[in-house]
Amino acid sequence: MTSGLISQPGRAPLSWPLQPAVAATVTAVCAAPAHTIARHLFHARTGPNTGTPPNVNPHLDELQPYPFEKLRKLFDGLTPPAELAPIRLSIGEPQHATPAFIRDALVDNLGGLANYPTTQGSDALRQSIASWLERRFGLPKVSAATQVLPVNGSREALFAFAQCVIDGARPDALVLCPNPFYQIYEGAAYLAGAKPYFVNNLPGNNFASDFAAVPDEVWQRVQLVFVCSPGNPTGKLLSLPEWQALFELSDRHGFIIAADECYSEIYFDDTNLPIGGLEAAHRLGRSDFRNVVMFSSLSKRSNVPGMRSGFVAGDAEVLKRFLLYRTYHGCAMSPAVQAASAAAWNDEAHVIENRRLYREKFARITPMLAEHLQVSLPDASFYLWARVDHLGLSDTEFARRLQAEYNVTVLPGSFLAREAHGVNPGAGFVRIALVADLAECVEAARRIATFAQQLSNNS
Ligand SMILES: Cc1ncc(COP(=O)(O)O)c(C=O)c1O
Repeated sequence: MTSGLISQPGRAPLSWPLQPAVAATVTAVCAAPAHTIARHLFHARTGPNTGTPPNVNPHLDELQPYPFEKLRKLFDGLTPPAELAPIRLSIGEPQHATPAFIRDALVDNLGGLANYPTTQGSDALRQSIASWLERRFGLPKVSAATQVLPVNGSREALFAFAQCVIDGARPDALVLCPNPFYQIYEGAAYLAGAKPYFVNNLPGNNFASDFAAVPDEVWQRVQLVFVCSPGNPTGKLLSLPEWQALFELSDRHGFIIAADECYSEIYFDDTNLPIGGLEAAHRLGRSDFRNVVMFSSLSKRSNVPGMRSGFVAGDAEVLKRFLLYRTYHGCAMSPAVQAASAAAWNDEAHVIENRRLYREKFARITPMLAEHLQVSLPDASFYLWARVDHLGLSDTEFARRLQAEYNVTVLPGSFLAREAHGVNPGAGFVRIALVADLAECVEAARRIATFAQQLSNNS
């Protein structure tokens, strides 16, 4: 071993005694400029950065192309019939009109652009969210001061939350994700230095996540669990017993639950509302919401995906750390958006009307498609998760031919899932987002029915 003292102003000296690799590096670079020496010493201690290009975060290489990028590739070179107007049911972008009072509130508060907003947001916004949570989920008291934070859409928050709570330095850190799933969960896990562990949502299990099948040695490594209820793409809801099982696992293993509830207000049965994570905690006597944070959004509830507005709520201790993280992350919500968001959370009439429009579409379209595809009304959300492989085509081939021959775009289920435990649970399914207006959705359903009939006739 080499001995000696190496230090730079403002930096801790290297650990002592020097390892042979470090000593060799010191010998090799002692005549080089200071910044080169620093880089060599860093590599000697940690190994070279293997990202592409080599000077960026190597975890970026673990990110998969987004489903819509895969779709573009799949459709490369297709020329759909020009006489059929294109109908896009692939992307989950709400297309109902934004309520006028939300637009007005935004415009009326443009004066706020003259001020820097705080990361915590205004008292008025947090109070309107806390009151909505109390009304919607029957919660006795939600603290606007400590249990609620505004976020710029749930996507941003789901990603940032993982960066905040995951300790990627712990060996073999895992993030549990449903499968199929919203792709942000996976990217958030990788960039936080963890790996996703997928729990398949299969038709044989009615698309539920079988948490009981996850081995104990996996749970011990899990730091964060993403749940999505109502689920994208299956529309499946978590039941109270499922919430209870998850809370018990969290108590045993110490992980945090991130409950993605951005579709919670689009449901079809007024006697079977989606149970929120905080509601489940409260009903099970966990009134401190320990280790649970819910993610909600105005995008689908209020038809404002471009406003980028949502919130997180739950465990005050976790949110305190998340607020600290967000202060540095620099993601405060514009004051005008805060004012428009408060107006939206304070109103329920437009949400009831929005649900009515979706109910009308699902009531018309689901039976039309169910004659040809294996599909039924979901618990909630605005997606139909339709099985197509009985028609003799894979999900990708079905989507490609539907696009090529009928100019209707749907998303292959395998693009929304990963192969895990020997199966891709999205394979053989397509996701149909009923976001277009009723007439367009009916026309799309007619074309899909004709296509499916043609496949059946040929088989
Ligand atoms: C499951 C799920 N979570 C979160 C989001 C993000 O929504 P937003 O960022 O608009 O709140 C989406 C968007 O489609 C989604 O499908």
